[in-house]
Amino acid sequence: MSHDLHQEFFDKLAREWDLMFTAGDLEFLSHIVDGLNVKEGMDILDLGCGTGVLFDLLRRKTGLSGSVTGVDFSIEMAQTAHRNFPFPNVNVVDADAVTLPFTDSSFDMAVAFAAFPHFSDQQKALNETHRVLKPSAKFYIIHLASSTELVETHQDIGGAVKNDEIPTETKLKHMFENSMFTDISIRDHTGLYLASATNTK
Ligand SMILES: C[S@@+](CC[C@H](N)C(=O)[O-])C[C@H]1O[C@@H](n2cnc3c(N)ncnc32)[C@H](O)[C@@H]1O
Repeated sequence: MSHDLHQEFFDKLAREWDLMFTAGDLEFLSHIVDGLNVKEGMDILDLGCGTGVLFDLLRRKTGLSGSVTGVDFSIEMAQTAHRNFPFPNVNVVDADAVTLPFTDSSFDMAVAFAAFPHFSDQQKALNETHRVLKPSAKFYIIHLASSTELVETHQDIGGAVKNDEIPTETKLKHMFENSMFTDISIRDHTGLYLASATNTK
């Protein structure tokens, strides 16, 4: 799987990306974020943030004493996210999820919405997420589709994302454990995939 092809693929989609979401999607996302237990003052990492669809939902919960930091390796996506959300509690960093430019134990929570299957090295991304999360912080992998639906969608789209998928439940559990995450939960239903794990240092 080539890295550059993915960057190119998502660069091309950045301009139109926000049109992908229906009001229904945003309403559903808002309910999902309500369930994540985001608290005022938290510093949250949004991996593969795209144009920042989660930023408003998250930053309203963290307030100005906390922050949302979006990471995306598509410069076009990162720039659009930056333009969309010029708020003091929102940062956007153009970086790769497999080599995060943050010091250890920087964040209180991490999310990857519709992004994890695209990471070039998912185990490394988990290692890095673990490294930058504080002890007891949670990591959530979220999709508005089941893992099977995602495979079909990516095959239909083709191109760079054709073979991108979420690992099987057993494999993802092992990967989380290899990266020192515990308390692993995976829900995989039509219309929603939600995995969560807790960082143990
Ligand atoms: C399907 S889009 C989802 C974007 C956003 N989370 C959303 O749901 O609107 C996947 C995003 O992940 C980003 N991405 C893929 N691999 C990445 C990596 N290794 N590091 C950082 N971002 C990555 C892509 O550039 C793209 O913006």
